[in-house]
Amino acid sequence: MPALFVTATGTDVGKTYVACALVRALKARSAPVDVFKPVVSGFDPADAAGSDPARLAQALGDPAALLRIAPRRYRAPLAPHIAARLEGQSLTLDDLVIDTVARTAQAREDLLVVEGAGGVMSPLTDTATNLDMIAALGAPALLVAGSYLGTMSHILTALAVLNAAETPVAAVVMSESLGAPDLAQTAEGLRPFLGGVPLFTAPRGDHWDASALADEILNRMGRA
Ligand SMILES: Nc1ncnc2c1ncn2[C@@H]1O[C@H](COP(=O)(O)OP(=O)(O)OP(=O)(O)O)[C@@H](O)[C@H]1O
Ligand SMILES: [Mg+2]
Repeated sequence: MPALFVTATGTDVGKTYVACALVRALKARSAPVDVFKPVVSGFDPADAAGSDPARLAQALGDPAALLRIAPRRYRAPLAPHIAARLEGQSLTLDDLVIDTVARTAQAREDLLVVEGAGGVMSPLTDTATNLDMIAALGAPALLVAGSYLGTMSHILTALAVLNAAETPVAAVVMSESLGAPDLAQTAEGLRPFLGGVPLFTAPRGDHWDASALADEILNRMGRA
């Protein structure tokens, strides 16, 4: 089955937070799920606990899965292609897609939740962005965004490029930003512009209950 590609309007808006909540909710429904982070930058092996792959492994209930979840790890907290170059490596779209397709095949009946790096148009390689990778995979996208003033334009811009690439968008999740306007009010203001794409809100907290999102994803994937 195709992977679900978790992307965002930009970096640091809540992809890992939402992906972990989705994984926990799927597991609570006994829905088979696995996770993958094709490339991670800003990864310090000596301080891996708060890293994306560590958080994803924790949500999966398999802390030892960290290295399996993220096979390409780079230290510099920079765009992946820049961080890789600093370690004498170069990333190619083919490699990232092949890794992910292979992991999807290994996942068999599991839903593979794939977390991208940065936002939809963030470069992954010298020539390809997350959007190129999503399109190459043919995977539906889950778009995560903040709720800060200005997020609506960022969300609609991201949706426009995803639509232009004919990428289906399973849902949008607005994860509450610190110091942002009222979350529900912002969501309601945006909803009429979404053309029916489901919108979920994740209020600030330690663990968002993503049950409704999990149901939407399972329905969409014909797995309910
Ligand atoms: N709704 C929320 N409630 C509480 N904390 C949140 C929420 N959304 C995001 N955060 C926190 O904000 C920070 C950034 O979120 P997160 O790491 O999920 O972003 P990201 O998009 O995955 O970032 P990156 O681009 O580095 O992968 C984290 O500390 C995360 O726990
Ligand atoms: Mg992340």
